[in-house]
Amino acid sequence: MTSQLHPYVVHFSVGLILLGVVLFWVGTLAGSRPWAADLLTAARWNLWIGSPLALVSIGSGFVDYIAAQCDADAVAATILHRRSGAVTWWSSLIAAIAVYRTRHRAPGPLLLAWLLLVGVAAATAAALGTGLTYDRAVGVHGAWPADTGRCFELERSPPL
Ligand code: HEM
Repeated sequence: MTSQLHPYVVHFSVGLILLGVVLFWVGTLAGSRPWAADLLTAARWNLWIGSPLALVSIGSGFVDYIAAQCDADAVAATILHRRSGAVTWWSSLIAAIAVYRTRHRAPGPLLLAWLLLVGVAAATAAALGTGLTYDRAVGVHGAWPADTGRCFELERSPPL
C-alpha cells in the first residue's frame, strides 16, 4: 500500500514560491514603471500562500514516506530531500514575515538576496524529490518486491 498525497500538494508550494521570487525580482528591477507595484502585490500573495503550503508539503511527505518501501540508499536520498524541504519551509516563512513587515515598499537588497535563497531551496527540494520518484521509484506502487521493508521502519532500525 502506498500513499501518493505528496505529489498532489508539492507542486503548488514549489510553483507559488518560485513564481513569487521571480515576481519580486522583476517587480523591484522594474522600478517606477506603472505595473511594478502590481507585480510586487502578486509576488507577496504567491509567497504568503506558497509558504504555508510548504508546511503542508512536509506533512504529506512524511505520510507518503511512512507508507513507502525503501532500501538504505533510498532512505539516505529521502533524508537529504526532506532537509532541503525543511530549509524551503523555514526560509520561506521568514521571507513571508519580512515581506509583510515591508509590504508598503519594494524589497531591499538583503530581502532580495534572502528570496534568492528561498528559490534555490525550493528548486533543490523539487529536484531531489523528483529524483526520489523517477530515479528511485520511492512511493511508486508495485515498483518494489512485496517483501521490501518500509522506509520509516528501516530508518529507525539499529544498524547491523
Ligand atoms: C517543502 C517541502 C517539500 C517539497 C517542496 C517537496 C517536493 C517534492 C517533489 C517535487 C517530489 C516529486 C513529486 C512527483 O513525483 O511528482 C517529492 C517526492 C517525494 N518527497 Fe518531497 N518535498 C518536500 C518535503 C518532503 C518531506 C519532509 C518528506 C518526508 C520524508 C518528503 C518525502 C517525499 C517522498 C517519499 C517522495 C516520493 C513520492 C511520494 O510522495 O510518494 N518530502 N517531493
